[in-house]
Amino acid sequence: MEKKQINWNRLEFAYTPTDWRYVSDYADGRWDAGRLTDQPQIVLNESACVLHYAQTCFEGLKAYTAADGRIFCFRPDLNAQRMADSCRRMKMPVFPEERFLKAVEETVRANLPWVPPYGSGASFYLRPLMIGTTPVLGVKPAQEFQFRLFGSPVGPYFHGGVRPLTLRVSDMDRAAPRGTGHIKAGLNYAMSLYNIVDAHEQGYDENVYLDPATRTCIEETGGANILFVSRDGKLVTPKSGSILPSITRRSLLQVAEEYLGIPVEEREIPLEEISGFAECGLCGTAAVISPVGCIVDHGKEICFTGMGPVLRKLYDTFVDIRMGRIEAPEGWLYEIV
Ligand code: PLP
Ligand code: COI
Repeated sequence: MEKKQINWNRLEFAYTPTDWRYVSDYADGRWDAGRLTDQPQIVLNESACVLHYAQTCFEGLKAYTAADGRIFCFRPDLNAQRMADSCRRMKMPVFPEERFLKAVEETVRANLPWVPPYGSGASFYLRPLMIGTTPVLGVKPAQEFQFRLFGSPVGPYFHGGVRPLTLRVSDMDRAAPRGTGHIKAGLNYAMSLYNIVDAHEQGYDENVYLDPATRTCIEETGGANILFVSRDGKLVTPKSGSILPSITRRSLLQVAEEYLGIPVEEREIPLEEISGFAECGLCGTAAVISPVGCIVDHGKEICFTGMGPVLRKLYDTFVDIRMGRIEAPEGWLYEIV
């Protein structure tokens, strides 16, 4: 199988349509058999529920080529489970886990020429999504849905590759106290669009959101969870009911404790406390671990050693596990081919 002629190490985090995507439709209370299609377009009724009332959720995971040439996905079962949580909260039917995994496999296998080679630094990003397609006018959920999963080769999430990021403490919220911040609903990202454009215009890479109830504690950014390292070497990360339970973060905490003996704390982190931390980074499927150089709180700069010794060690160990260079915990690497 010949790879596409792509400058893999120049890729950014952007959409490239690939050859095949997986689609399954839901009607009359059940999912159809599903199929691969070469059609990236979706035809919708003008009154489809997703278009007005944002009945949609999505996921993000990566396939990549390991040192021995095999292609793996990282813990796709957890993406299936989180998507099921999102669906339940959004009154959408769950797409069964075993079918989700089959869709991942089929999509990657059908697009092998697009999966970046080992050592390129790039990966094949998979985007599962679900939309409510029934035409509605009153506010109510759809009864027909589409599950779709496509892939795109991608490079680093932040423009300019791995470099210390500058974040600002946001005056807007991305989630409500008892809202949908803990699931991957499209509406959370719609909430952040104005703010991310504004942050970029003001010269920041991202917004750090505070807890929407009291606006005193750090939550996460628009597309990644946040990690701090204390001066005595502990890995500290926010706990809150309105942040997305990042699969990368959960995995990193386990790697820190079990592989590196780094103590971890998951707890509320008051904004006032962060000037006491030594290192800071963002984590997620797209972000992996992206170092944070400065968080600006209304003119006050709080700076960190970008990728300091603790985050560097964590990053290297995590990437070695994902790439099959260090033995992974049971079930973490899902072999595709
Ligand atoms: N937080 C938000 C708001 C996200 O969109 C993402 C990306 O999925 C993450 C955190 C990181 O989650 P994960 O590590 O599961 O990709
Ligand atoms: C991911 O990390 O997979 C995400 O979905 C984040 C997204 C905002 C690009």
